[in-house]
Amino acid sequence: MKFILSLFSIFVVTLFIGLQLVSGQDEDVISIELGQRVFNDNCVACHLGGNNSVIGDKTLKLEALQENSKDSISAIVTQVTNGNGAMPPFGDKLQDNEIESVANYVLNQAKTNSW
Ligand SMILES: *[C@@H]1O[C@H](CO)[C@@H](O)[C@H](O)[C@H]1NC(C)=O
Repeated sequence: MKFILSLFSIFVVTLFIGLQLVSGQDEDVISIELGQRVFNDNCVACHLGGNNSVIGDKTLKLEALQENSKDSISAIVTQVTNGNGAMPPFGDKLQDNEIESVANYVLNQAKTNSW
């Protein structure tokens, strides 16, 4: 019985550490690579190639971002989190680091003219 109990505690501790590692990784990373993955999973439906399939002139290209005062990480983070007009909010769907990452990806694509 004691043996089974200690086996069980080892299992619980291992599981706990494993979960912490996984979630720690998810919560901390902010990167262009993660941003690209988030973009491809959530944004391409309307923003393929940095375009806008709903409102044609509100693209993700630098001139359009500048015209609409969306050419900063914080403006894009706010837009993605809360949505705006035809765009739905992603604040409940994505983690903070995912939103921060996708904002970095979008701004980087725009500034380096990479769409
Ligand atoms: C984006 O829009 C431009 C201008 O309308 C078009 O030429 C281009 O093919 C579009 N790109 C994609 C990936 O749909």
